[in-house]
Amino acid sequence: QFSSAQFGGEFKPNYDESKVPEFEVPNPLKSFRKRKIKNVRQWEKIRRPELLDFFTHNVYGKIPGELKIESWEVVEQSNNALNGKARRKQVDLIFSKNGHRLFFNILIYLPKNVEKAPVFLGYNFYGNHTVTNDVHVRISEAWARNNPSFGIIHNQLTEQSRGVRENRWQLEKILDAGYGLATIFYCEVDPDKDDFSNGIHPLLYTDGQQRPAYNEWGAIAAWTWGLSRAMDYFEQDDEVDENKVIVFGHSRLGKTALWAGATDQRFAAVISNNSGCGGAALSKRRFGETVARINRSFPHWFCRNFMIFNQNEESLPVDQHELIALIAPRPVYVASAKEDLWADPRGEFLSAYYASPVYNLYEKEGIPSKEMPDVNQPVQNTVAYHIRTGKHDVTEFDWEQYILWADKELFNK
Ligand code: GCU
Repeated sequence: QFSSAQFGGEFKPNYDESKVPEFEVPNPLKSFRKRKIKNVRQWEKIRRPELLDFFTHNVYGKIPGELKIESWEVVEQSNNALNGKARRKQVDLIFSKNGHRLFFNILIYLPKNVEKAPVFLGYNFYGNHTVTNDVHVRISEAWARNNPSFGIIHNQLTEQSRGVRENRWQLEKILDAGYGLATIFYCEVDPDKDDFSNGIHPLLYTDGQQRPAYNEWGAIAAWTWGLSRAMDYFEQDDEVDENKVIVFGHSRLGKTALWAGATDQRFAAVISNNSGCGGAALSKRRFGETVARINRSFPHWFCRNFMIFNQNEESLPVDQHELIALIAPRPVYVASAKEDLWADPRGEFLSAYYASPVYNLYEKEGIPSKEMPDVNQPVQNTVAYHIRTGKHDVTEFDWEQYILWADKELFNK
């Protein structure tokens, strides 16, 4: 029952809307014991905890203990970065337990003219040095996924990829809008491979444990753990406004951002960019990537209990709109791309829509209509959504929207 290879032969994604199975969308405002949830108090006392518990033990996996920052060190810093536009810091957070040691580095840019800056926090796929051409950004020595076009052939990052992901981060725009950017190379927290002997997991093993139990953390939960530790650090850093940290992520790291927002209420807002299956998209639609497919390709991302739902989405008592509801009443932005059918744009939209009644309990405005907005026509309420032209990616258009929306939601601008 826990094998990840659960469909025989080749997987053919469904991209035909008329072949989406019929299903009932679980009602976020009805408890597992069929009790109607009528107000914020009942949501917070009954429904939110049981949903959080379900996602914890059956989807992402529970973090089996506490692990605090042992020490941190500013390994590099400048008050005159990017031609005088920004302050830059590179900070190592260090952890140790069970004879294992782990550290990861946060690259932080802050706008010069803001005393305590709001920040966008997000993981990157190929190292901090890829988000900007700034020559002072250190190159991580952690394991990286090979990508010959970035010069990564032996799982090692090199100088060749400096700045290659500049487009995906829009650093200057972010700084000009008065926000900082903090980013971490996700493989420093847990290498993205099906191997539980490395990364953060072993630090919290019990004696002799080799891999997480069925209900314990996969890689996504491990990455969210890292985001929460970054938040712990921001609480110590006088230059960052820890009450205005917006957690952002693309794709697998968008799944991570959503789970971070759900589990750690210190995050002021959450952005899911093209997060797809196991992120914003409704699993029960089985459109594009499915639960069985994701668990087969990436058996290490979710907890092993999640495999129970391989080709069995109908038996899930929850769906991903309830993950989004767990973020309420904090602002959440779900973004799709027209050509990114693998991530099921319509399923991502419907999740934002079906999460909205929970936001309404708090008198916050969600997505008002079940009709998908036109391409490049964002709907920006406390729950926001857009579908833009183009592929699976993060673009300048995306960041322009995120900034406008953050200005409105966090600063009433
Ligand atoms: C794969 C995977 C997706 C994931 C994406 C990414 O396509 O199937 O679930 O979101 O990688 O992280 O880029």
